[in-house]
Amino acid sequence: MMIVGVVGSGAMGSGIAQVAAMAGHQVVLADANAQALDKARASLGTNLQKLQEKGKINDAEDILRLISYVPFSAEHMQVFTGCGLVIEAVIERLDVKHNVFTNLESVVVDNCVLATNTSSLSVTSIAAACRRPARVLGLHFFNPAPLMALVEIIPAIQTDGVLLPTMNDLMIKWGKIPVAAKDTPGFIVNRVARPFYSEAIRICEEGIADMATIDWAMTEIGGFRMGPFTLMDYIGHDVNYVVTETVFQSFFFDPRYKPSFSQKRLLEAGWLGRKSGRGFYDYSPGATIPDANKNAELGKEIYERILSMLINEAVDALYLNVASAADLETAMTRGVNYPSGLLALCDKWGADKCLEKLDSLYHLYHEDRYRASPLLRKQAIGNKKFV
Ligand SMILES: NC(=O)c1ccc[n+]([C@@H]2O[C@H](COP(=O)([O-])OP(=O)(O)OC[C@H]3O[C@@H](n4cnc5c(N)ncnc54)[C@H](O)[C@@H]3O)[C@@H](O)[C@H]2O)c1
Repeated sequence: MMIVGVVGSGAMGSGIAQVAAMAGHQVVLADANAQALDKARASLGTNLQKLQEKGKINDAEDILRLISYVPFSAEHMQVFTGCGLVIEAVIERLDVKHNVFTNLESVVVDNCVLATNTSSLSVTSIAAACRRPARVLGLHFFNPAPLMALVEIIPAIQTDGVLLPTMNDLMIKWGKIPVAAKDTPGFIVNRVARPFYSEAIRICEEGIADMATIDWAMTEIGGFRMGPFTLMDYIGHDVNYVVTETVFQSFFFDPRYKPSFSQKRLLEAGWLGRKSGRGFYDYSPGATIPDANKNAELGKEIYERILSMLINEAVDALYLNVASAADLETAMTRGVNYPSGLLALCDKWGADKCLEKLDSLYHLYHEDRYRASPLLRKQAIGNKKFV
């Protein structure tokens, strides 16, 4: 069986190593930082032991034996010579990723596939550092990798097309649900989900409703597992805000993706969310989450405003061939656990109603942020269905 290399043994790299080892591969897990490797070894041991206790795997030791932990340094590069696939999951910096790919290419065999787990950089820009960019592609796992089934497969413009069905089949063998996405900012999930956060903040900034009310509307009326403010606090503003800002910049500052001052200030204050004890909400001992205003009419207004923005984003991604309709639905239900695909929600609500909502916002604000996708406009004529 093919040997899999993973570079970067942080949250994502160690999770990916676990997935590959559980699928039966020998795994070479490398990191430039010895402490990160020790931490990965310990957490993989604990995770697999827990899975054994729950009866999900037979023998944790058998799987752990497949993983070797190696310093990512010039003296140890030879460990990658036997790999058929190497997945890079180092910090999100183009210069660091370029360096990793250049070092890998000096030792791997010609048909070794090199993948990046980047969330926000262009795969094409990463591939550009390589001698053989045709073998580079994006394999975007979600956090935590062993639990989240979705993997976005992203060919760079240089990628050899024959790799795509092979990688698709491999991800299925690993128990994952692969979807294909064009190399555009945020790929599918991190692009389409943006309004869930940004429109919620905008509604709050305008004083239309407070955070608890918006969270209530999205969970109780919308059926989402967590409200936007609870979710942003959970993800952490260091991650969530940075993704928003990166997507905004990468889209040449399209106002649809504009970040908010409210969230930026949280980041500046170090109020990162749950992990720092304070974010939008206060998590210190004894603190309580404020009560929601459970006014049905207000709840519906909030839900429909955010939903219209989310649907518009999904429809526009379809319009611009970022992904197929089926993959867009799979990505949002399996990558961020939405209660339903957004195209199906558009069908249910009616493309005409959704368009009416967006157009009313556009007329009110005269902001490009609320412009409807041309495809939504086309669908609204005769109220056509997507799925
Ligand atoms: N955390 C998430 O939710 C998430 C989800 C999907 C994708 N990603 C992407 O996955 C990648 C890794 O993210 P993470 O959350 O695991 O980060 P992390 O900070 O937990 O881990 C990064 C690891 O890379 C190591 N590293 C840094 N420079 C290195 C180098 N030059 N050579 C070898 N190792 C090096 C660090 O020591 C660290 O252990 C990023 O590209 C990120 O955008 C993250």
